[in-house]
Amino acid sequence: MQGIADELRSKGKRIGLVPTMGYLHQGHLSLVDEAKRHSDVVIMSIYVNPTQFGRGEDFDKYPRDLARDEEMASQKSVNYLFVPSDKEMYRDEHLAYVEVEKVSSLLEGEFRPGHFKGVASVVAKLFNIVKPHAAVFGQKDAQQAFIIKKMVEDLNFDVQIIVAPIVREPDGLAMSSRNVYLSPSQREQATVLYKSLRLAEKLVAGGEKDLVRSRAEMVKMITDSSDGKIDYVSFVDPKNFTKIESAKDLDEVQSLLAVRFGKTRLIDNMLLKTGKR
Ligand code: PAJ
Repeated sequence: MQGIADELRSKGKRIGLVPTMGYLHQGHLSLVDEAKRHSDVVIMSIYVNPTQFGRGEDFDKYPRDLARDEEMASQKSVNYLFVPSDKEMYRDEHLAYVEVEKVSSLLEGEFRPGHFKGVASVVAKLFNIVKPHAAVFGQKDAQQAFIIKKMVEDLNFDVQIIVAPIVREPDGLAMSSRNVYLSPSQREQATVLYKSLRLAEKLVAGGEKDLVRSRAEMVKMITDSSDGKIDYVSFVDPKNFTKIESAKDLDEVQSLLAVRFGKTRLIDNMLLKTGKR
């Protein structure tokens, strides 16, 4: 892969990378479109990275279907698929990792300790292997996108990071490889996540500054209309990803949530414009 990247670069081609764990859906494919806008050659990586899964998480059960992914990627004219094996990515004694402090221990990090260390490290490896000029990530994983941008900034990676909008099902559920785990009833109930974000959007746009109150309304909506178990419903300042309880003096706040439906854990988020009363 590094050889191919060197050759492309020597021909003056701009490389765009779309890192994924496969089981592709329209959300992933929208990142390919975005990558095409910023590069000449699009390389997609498909790798279910073991170091970002905790003990007892769904690494073994994570959906995989390479033949289907290959078909979808070729229909989107992805130029190269990079599909490394675990042995290629992690030699016997792998010791070096990248850690983005503080923000990695909040929200997702609280419930998935070590997750973002695994993510930042594998993305750093992918950058060194694929040598992209630009890499595209989804807003669906807002905290991940923030962490990658911070890593690139703090460690001077020579890569442009592009964040693309969340692609949703017609009923608002954010597309995710994990949605296939949902039973029909859970799938129906999961629409409450987007509804609760829309509720927060309306409250905050209407001038509500007290985010503790907005949060309570979201929690009530989720628990009243589903069996979902809430890991968190939180607000952060999108500029620095710190938790906030008031929207005062901010033009935008970001609402993020993680809810479990049976064994399936879903995350979603929305950037909310604040309004005056
Ligand atoms: P994965 O969950 O496969 O997601 C790959 C990329 O697709 C991520 O940037 C994610 O934010 C984006 N994505 C997922 N669902 C989306 C949606 N509905 N709309 C828009 N974009 C969406 O995220 C990972 O893999 C891994 O952590 C990875 C970055 C590949 C590192 O292992």
